[in-house]
This record gives sequence, C-alpha cells and structure tokens, in this order.
Amino acid sequence: MQFVYIVVIGLHVMAGVFWAGTTMAVARDPDIRAERFFRPQMGAAVLVFLTGILLWYFFHEAAFGSMEKVLALGIVTALIAAGVQGALVGSASRRLAGADAAAQTELRAKMTRGERIAGGLLVITVLCMATARMF
Ligand code: HEM
Repeated sequence: MQFVYIVVIGLHVMAGVFWAGTTMAVARDPDIRAERFFRPQMGAAVLVFLTGILLWYFFHEAAFGSMEKVLALGIVTALIAAGVQGALVGSASRRLAGADAAAQTELRAKMTRGERIAGGLLVITVLCMATARMF
C-alpha cells in the first residue's frame, strides 16, 4: 500500500506544481501565449483533483479537524481557480483563431485577467496544501 501512497502523492504534487506554476508564469508575462498552456493546465487540474480525492479517501475520510478545514479551503480555491480559468481563458482562447488584431488584443487581455485571478487563488491552494498538517 505504501507504494500506492507514494505514487498518488507524487502525481498529485507534480500535477499541482505544473498547474499552479504555469498559471503564475503566464499571469506574470502576457507575451507568453496562454492558449498553448490551456489544455495541459486543465489536464493537470483534472489529475490534481482525482489524486486529491484519493488522498482525502486514504488519509482524511474519518475526521474533519483543523487540518481538514485548511485542506478544504485549498480545495475550494482550486475549484474556483479551475472555473475561472475555464470560463475566461478557455472561452477566449477558442475565439482567438480567426479574430482580427483588435479582437485578439481584447481576448489576450481577458486571458491574462483569467490567469491572474486563477494564479492568486492557486497561491492560497498551495499555501493551504503545504501547511495543512501544521494546524
Ligand atoms: C495547485 C493545486 C495543488 C497543489 C500544488 C497541491 C499540493 C499538495 C501537497 C504538496 C500536499 C502534501 C502536504 C503534506 O504532505 O504535508 C498535498 C496534500 C493534499 N492535497 Fe493537495 N494540492 C493541490 C490541490 C488539491 C486539490 C484540488 C485537492 C482535492 C481535490 C487536494 C487534496 C489534498 C489532500 C487530501 C492532501 C492530504 C494528503 C496527506 O494527508 O498526506 N489537493 N497537496
């Protein structure tokens, strides 16, 4: 069983670091083409949620103490981040192809706004995940 825990935690942390890290990088630099990251980010988010649910089932199903409250806060901010990314970045990146220069500028501004909001929320998620066991 130990081996399963190691694989699940490894996948969880790697996918989470990719999702949060690329979101923050794209949010900081609008010259990075956010649309190229969107699908891998959403794929990583799905993996984070699936492995996170497994971790909850393995280690936290029995009680809802202060550690679980901190984890839950991180999970809620991650859920909102995924929603914001899907709504703002996803919809804008789909409309980019075929848009004229003025529309592209507008769509890119919308994508950057989405990445910034999601990046801020994922900062809270990472802090909660990393510190939860100290509560
Ligand atoms: C950017 C997103 C995320 C990152 C970077 C991340 C990272 C981490 C890290 C580093 C830990 C290990 C903490 C420790 O052992 O002290 C952890 C634990 C955990 N994460 Fe996440 N996480 C993310 C999102 C999520 C989500 C969305 C869920 C739930 C759906 C979740 C559920 C959990 C659970 C239940 C644990 C506790 C595991 C244990 O008790 O050892 N995480 N996470």
